[in-house]
Amino acid sequence: MIKLFDIQKSFGKNKVLQGISFVIPKGKITVIIGRSGEGKSVLLKHLIRLINPDEGKILVDGTDILSLNEIELKEFRKKFGMLFQNAALFDSMNVFSNVAFPLVEHTNMTDHEIASRVHEVLELVGLKDIDEKMPEELSGGMRKRVGLARSIALLPQILLYDEPTTGLDPIMTDAIDQLIVNTQKQLGVTSVVISHDIEASFRIADRVAMLHEGKIILEGQRVDFEASKHPFIKRFLEGRATGTEL
Ligand SMILES: Nc1ncnc2c1ncn2[C@@H]1O[C@H](COP(=O)(O)OP(=O)(O)OP(=O)(O)O)[C@@H](O)[C@H]1O
Ligand SMILES: [Mg+2]
Repeated sequence: MIKLFDIQKSFGKNKVLQGISFVIPKGKITVIIGRSGEGKSVLLKHLIRLINPDEGKILVDGTDILSLNEIELKEFRKKFGMLFQNAALFDSMNVFSNVAFPLVEHTNMTDHEIASRVHEVLELVGLKDIDEKMPEELSGGMRKRVGLARSIALLPQILLYDEPTTGLDPIMTDAIDQLIVNTQKQLGVTSVVISHDIEASFRIADRVAMLHEGKIILEGQRVDFEASKHPFIKRFLEGRATGTEL
């Protein structure tokens, strides 16, 4: 379980997070939704301390992560798999080496075991026979899927996905959504997914949290959103599409 207490973060005069308090339950899928620029990626990066807050406290399975030193932090991050919004592949490494990277870094697996895991996770994201390809040779959607394969390769306890399906075609979007749901069901991982598509969020989420003007303004399921009188939530639901259009 991840608990955030009054997280505040500004960049200069830009107050991005203005008191975020909420709980991310263990073994469930939580989707964080909001318009472009609201701070969704910034919030996600706080969970593994890629960004430190100005104020507030974050507990992950009872550990106060802001008190960890560099060595403890490195160990702590092994719990997590993260898919960055831009996939963040290593440009100088081919697909195989990109996906193998966390296994080589963090495990004692043999070359044979690593190869078999790499191929297993690549197959899970619908990619085959692309070991030798370099990131620049891939489409945006393929890069995203390679990033996804890399983030699940270590079978982490907590998976953070920053817009895993943005820019993918509807069939691939469905496949990735299924993958997120299945990974969570099979491995019981805690998943945090960022999205700006509310309908898609309801399809996969146990809970949806709406980030707006630096705060979580509503958390719940479809019924809670539909019952909300908050003008922004109503507009967002009426849009029934992507938050970027609001
Ligand atoms: N490292 C940084 N330094 C300065 N400002 C930053 C930094 N990272 C993010 N910001 C600012 O924080 C705000 C929120 O950015 P963030 O990337 O979290 O938005 P987002 O909700 O993920 O948007 P999108 O849906 O477009 O990905 C933006 O105004 C952005 O310019
Ligand atoms: Mg973002």
